[in-house]
Amino acid sequence: MSFKNQSVIVTGGSSGIGRATAIAFAKRGAKVVVSDINEAGGQETVQVIKENGGQAIFVKTNVANSDEVQQLIDTCLKEYGQLDHMINNAGIGQGLYFFDQITDEHWAKTIAVNQTGVFYCMRAALKVMKQQKSGNIINTASAAGIRSAPRMGAYAASKHAVVGMTKSAAAEYGKYGIRINAICPTVIETPMGDSYMSENEDLKAMMLKSVPMRRFGQPEEVARTICWLCSADASYLTGVALPIDGGSNA
Ligand SMILES: NC(=O)c1ccc[n+]([C@@H]2O[C@H](COP(=O)([O-])OP(=O)(O)OC[C@H]3O[C@@H](n4cnc5c(N)ncnc54)[C@H](O)[C@@H]3O)[C@@H](O)[C@H]2O)c1
Repeated sequence: MSFKNQSVIVTGGSSGIGRATAIAFAKRGAKVVVSDINEAGGQETVQVIKENGGQAIFVKTNVANSDEVQQLIDTCLKEYGQLDHMINNAGIGQGLYFFDQITDEHWAKTIAVNQTGVFYCMRAALKVMKQQKSGNIINTASAAGIRSAPRMGAYAASKHAVVGMTKSAAAEYGKYGIRINAICPTVIETPMGDSYMSENEDLKAMMLKSVPMRRFGQPEEVARTICWLCSADASYLTGVALPIDGGSNA
């Protein structure tokens, strides 16, 4: 699997799944744009890539700001001349609350980053890819995008929206040679995943029991699946919401 002479943008590339994905693409020869609101973490990702002989730049971007998203795409085009793969991975979780406890602020922030952020990134990338007549978009949804997520109502709403946008756009843009897929991980051991599990041993035990493989996922396992989805090996695959979950969805 080689991405030589191809470029990729990874949002949320300063940490967890995004960092692992940026590194996995670079290892396979891609020219990488690492993007995040967290500059220090993003520069660390770039440094790891460069130390291993890869090519990467960092662009600070809040995905909930459409002007910043446009600047991100423009910078990628200026630096690398094309945009082959757009990995819309930035996202937030904001703790566990029953529906009647969700504040307006919690709701608005979750939707702004997880849903509207993905929309801004898809819209800007699709304009470029439509001209190119090629491209891959991967949206990081969640298991919470295809089934219930008790006490994560706003998060589940935003991730179901990501799946809806993925399928609709896949239906619209297939004729331009653009593939658009979503991934739906269950608990992955990242700062976000750990923030839920480390605070609550009962929840951790319950979640672990719900995974047939009896372990949580690693960010590198998600990253490798994203690379596969973007590769020619998955050339007839578009519009899916793929669980990456040790069998939980089954
Ligand atoms: N870890 C899990 O268990 C899990 C499970 C399912 C889905 N996900 C999804 O995977 C994605 C990555 O999560 P992770 O587990 O790697 O978490 P993480 O917290 O390690 O990384 C998320 C990154 O997104 C960045 N970010 C947050 N808000 C942003 C914004 N407005 N603009 C740009 N960047 C922003 C953060 O700075 C951080 O670097 C998220 O969309 C998350 O919802 C995670």
